[in-house]
Amino acid sequence: MTSGFISQPQKYYIIGNWKSHKTVEQAEKWLEDYYQIINNINLSKTENPEVIICVAYIHLFPLKKKITEAKKKWPQINAPLKLAAQNVSPFSQGAYTGEISADMMQGLVDYCLVGHSERREKFAETNEVIFNKVKQLNSAGIKPILCVPDVTTPIPSDVELIAYEPVWAIGSGKPATPEHANQVARQIKMKHKRAQVIYGGSVNPDNVASFISQSEISGVLPGGASLKADTFIKIIANAKGKE
Ligand code: PGA
Repeated sequence: MTSGFISQPQKYYIIGNWKSHKTVEQAEKWLEDYYQIINNINLSKTENPEVIICVAYIHLFPLKKKITEAKKKWPQINAPLKLAAQNVSPFSQGAYTGEISADMMQGLVDYCLVGHSERREKFAETNEVIFNKVKQLNSAGIKPILCVPDVTTPIPSDVELIAYEPVWAIGSGKPATPEHANQVARQIKMKHKRAQVIYGGSVNPDNVASFISQSEISGVLPGGASLKADTFIKIIANAKGKE
């Protein structure tokens, strides 16, 4: 049966996670490199991915300014960038010294990582805290990117973007097989029907297409391979297979 609509290609995500890296100067340089390279390459195969960089709080404001300037300068820019925070307070704004709340980040970011396994392990984040963070983000209109280390991790029912990141694959140079990642993505989507699932853990320019080509996987979350603009751009360029 035909729907009568011309089907749009499914949106897919390329999400860089800089983790705890870069001075403001280095972050701005990354962005300059990005714009210099991205506009000079042919991205005809990429079908318009949603490209996001997850950066430390200190980078959000200067990078937002530069991204806004770039949009004016190059309205037709290849692979425009969106910004994400890497963390958020589980509380709304108030007397929580040192915390950045979701409502404070309104207008600054489109997305925010939540529940990365480094935060679960090294900062003792519980599922309760993570659920509260998701709640804060939803009420501020910021989309959570919820990271889950395995298929049994509890997921709030209203989360629409889930990153499957097995702990053993993160930073190890040993990614999951695309088939395994696809199987976990399928299992997650059986319970969370509206969600899109992406894969993270040792993604690089050479293996990105093998993940994106899986039926249940809607993108990738590279960490180490996002730290240099040219490598990150290779991931974007190779996502749908090499030219
Ligand atoms: P990696 O990190 O690509 O360096 O393995 C991924 C992540 O932790 O998000």
